[in-house]
Amino acid sequence: MLLRPALFLFLSVLASSSPVFSAPTGPPAPHHFLHPRDGPHYNSSLPNITVLATGGTIAGSAGSNTDLTGYKAGQIGIQILIDAVPEIQNISNVQGVQVANVDSSGITPEILLNLTAQAQMALDDPHCQGIVITHGTDTLEESAFFLDLTLRSEKPIVIVGSMRPATGLSADGPLNLLEAITLAADPRAVGRGTMVVLNDRITSAFYATKTNANWLDTFKAVEQGDLGSFIDAKPNFFYSPAVPVGYHFFNVSQSTSLPKVDIVFGYQALDPEMARSAVGKGAEGLVLAGVGAGGWTSAGLDEIHELIREHGTQVVLSSRTMGGFVKTNGTGNIYGSQDLNPQKARIMLQLALNAGYDSNELTKLFSFSE
Ligand SMILES: *[C@@H]1O[C@H](CO)[C@@H](O)[C@H](O)[C@H]1NC(C)=O
Ligand SMILES: *[C@@H]1O[C@H](CO)[C@@H](O)[C@H](O)[C@H]1NC(C)=O
Ligand SMILES: *[C@@H]1O[C@H](CO)[C@@H](O)[C@H](O)[C@H]1NC(C)=O
Ligand SMILES: *[C@@H]1O[C@H](CO)[C@@H](O)[C@H](O)[C@H]1NC(C)=O
Ligand SMILES: *[C@@H]1O[C@H](CO)[C@@H](O)[C@H](O)[C@H]1NC(C)=O
Ligand SMILES: *[C@@H]1O[C@H](CO)[C@@H](O)[C@H](O)[C@H]1NC(C)=O
Repeated sequence: MLLRPALFLFLSVLASSSPVFSAPTGPPAPHHFLHPRDGPHYNSSLPNITVLATGGTIAGSAGSNTDLTGYKAGQIGIQILIDAVPEIQNISNVQGVQVANVDSSGITPEILLNLTAQAQMALDDPHCQGIVITHGTDTLEESAFFLDLTLRSEKPIVIVGSMRPATGLSADGPLNLLEAITLAADPRAVGRGTMVVLNDRITSAFYATKTNANWLDTFKAVEQGDLGSFIDAKPNFFYSPAVPVGYHFFNVSQSTSLPKVDIVFGYQALDPEMARSAVGKGAEGLVLAGVGAGGWTSAGLDEIHELIREHGTQVVLSSRTMGGFVKTNGTGNIYGSQDLNPQKARIMLQLALNAGYDSNELTKLFSFSE
């Protein structure tokens, strides 16, 4: 069997022993940041990039190299992933920080807050030129959007994953990681907001969404387009640096948890009680993944208005169609998601409620492109 050397390294490490980095319960304290200078391949003429790892398929392993779905995500430590791509040594000095090692469905608000804190710390270090976050693809768009709204830095912030596990034939993780690090180390990537890298494409984290559950070509901003691509593993930008119109900064440095916001899915003859149940379990906000442009059934809307009267629930209307625009109505406590999909609208509402926004501030926030 012919194996790419990097892949062979993954496999032999997997076979030989437990990973060098086992999944920690919390993040390392700031003093655990290594100096890039202390790394085995330090080259003073290269930029310094910090890679914050959270797990996912890129760190996944399966029993066979054709098993591309039945694998276990979040198995391989970040240093092993970095070491498996020696080409990185010619691009930048990399220090890996293991923030978590989970399947991306296991990312919690606590992990997100820890990730933001450690990412901001790395970005604030004058010796660091950019950061890369490795992440499972299933909820990558949520973390990417969260980081876009909670990090403040002009330096490149790149989030990367893979669709095939490290043990799969034609695993996409090694090249994706190399491209993400190359992007983070590129001065032309400054001032572009958080970026998503997969399948040779660079997409804005604000709009990127996973459009296919299986294929490599899955992250797209269908209407907004890509920011660039990779040619010979080097960034090829389509536009000058710019941040999305709806960009908004939320400072979460003092937060240890986030308000509960739930998404309720719309369909014919939906049960109005679903929304009440979410509020009963503590949801301060609801996102309705509406039929069409925020459409909801009339019985469902009666229930929503009652919840607003009784609990002051804040409600964002979005669309289950994963495309299109929902306007903010201007009626109390109900807002339109603009062109954010329900899972991104949820993060924005969560951050706004966490910041104590009232109805006027929420109306302004959810009118960002009107
Ligand atoms: C978050 O970080 C704190 C320390 O900074 C740690 O105690 C906690 O376990 C971490 N939580 C998670 C979910 O990683
Ligand atoms: C990289 O980090 C080292 C410290 O480990 C520092 O001496 C060096 O100046 C940094 N390089 C850049 C380009 O910031
Ligand atoms: C360090 O990086 C520079 C710039 O890419 C390269 O020219 C040089 O050969 C590298 N030095 C070593 C020892 O790899
Ligand atoms: C790094 O660059 C040097 C000089 O171009 C090359 O000889 C070497 O093979 C490169 N190393 C890797 C791992 O790509
Ligand atoms: C966030 O808030 C903290 C505490 O108030 C402050 O120290 C920090 O500078 C703020 N960060 C930014 C980027 O404004
Ligand atoms: C939008 O506003 C109109 C009145 O301006 C109101 O009749 C309608 O119910 C509102 N839609 C929603 C979903 O609340």
